[in-house]
Amino acid sequence: MPVVEHPQFRMAYDDDGKGQPILFIHGYPLNRKMWQPQRQELSSSFRLILPDLRGHGESTPTEGEYSMNLLAEDCAFLLDQLGITQPITVCGLSMGGYIAFAFLRKYPQRVKSLILTATRAAPDSPEAREKRLQAIQEARSQGLGSIVDSMIPRLTSKRTQQENQPLLDEVRKIMQATSVSAVIGDLQGMMSRPDSRPFLAEINIPTLIIHGREDILIPITEAQEMHNSIRGSRLVILDDVAHLPNMEAPHQFNAHLRNFMDDLA
Ligand code: MLT
Repeated sequence: MPVVEHPQFRMAYDDDGKGQPILFIHGYPLNRKMWQPQRQELSSSFRLILPDLRGHGESTPTEGEYSMNLLAEDCAFLLDQLGITQPITVCGLSMGGYIAFAFLRKYPQRVKSLILTATRAAPDSPEAREKRLQAIQEARSQGLGSIVDSMIPRLTSKRTQQENQPLLDEVRKIMQATSVSAVIGDLQGMMSRPDSRPFLAEINIPTLIIHGREDILIPITEAQEMHNSIRGSRLVILDDVAHLPNMEAPHQFNAHLRNFMDDLA
């Protein structure tokens, strides 16, 4: 497993394929293994850069809040270490999308196009913040177990739950590889993330938005709102898919990504 030594932690990543680079930023509380279906199908055409964010998967944890800015800086550090200085495509799922917004705000010259999947521009509501605080308490007192158990059924569509037990098992395994420090750090970072909605009208790079029709964690209206506000953006809604479009409908997801990338070339 390749790693880079960040001053604060050891970052695991994969760097696969050749072609236009795409940085894939995973969601909470997941890791780079969630992008396995993209590695399999897309690395013949693109260079896929897949970090494990600090404390996730095989990257070592640090204590304290993982702000979206901090995680975006970690991604930039990895790109620097790999010598990738040209503008790239950034693809983020859910929390990875929050980080993609932070990355674009901090390093606009490094982003050529954007893929936002199962994510939102709006900040947490007061109720959502309250739930994050409860989850932080839960993680501190009981570890990861109950968080994973309560999230699994909410992440995937009815069809995935009925027909794709291997995927559910894989998602559980991926989540269990997250450290408690990262769960707490992510929750603190997500609850204090800024409102990205005012920023949407300034985005003037090609943007693809992919959302699952059955996503209950981030309702489809959030994707429609981003689509209406980001000039020239493309919106794809996938049926029988909830919060993990790239895993639940990998071939459709990959085909849309490929079309989008081909249109840019
Ligand atoms: C994620 O999938 O990254 C999280 O569900 C996002 C969130 O909790 O806001």
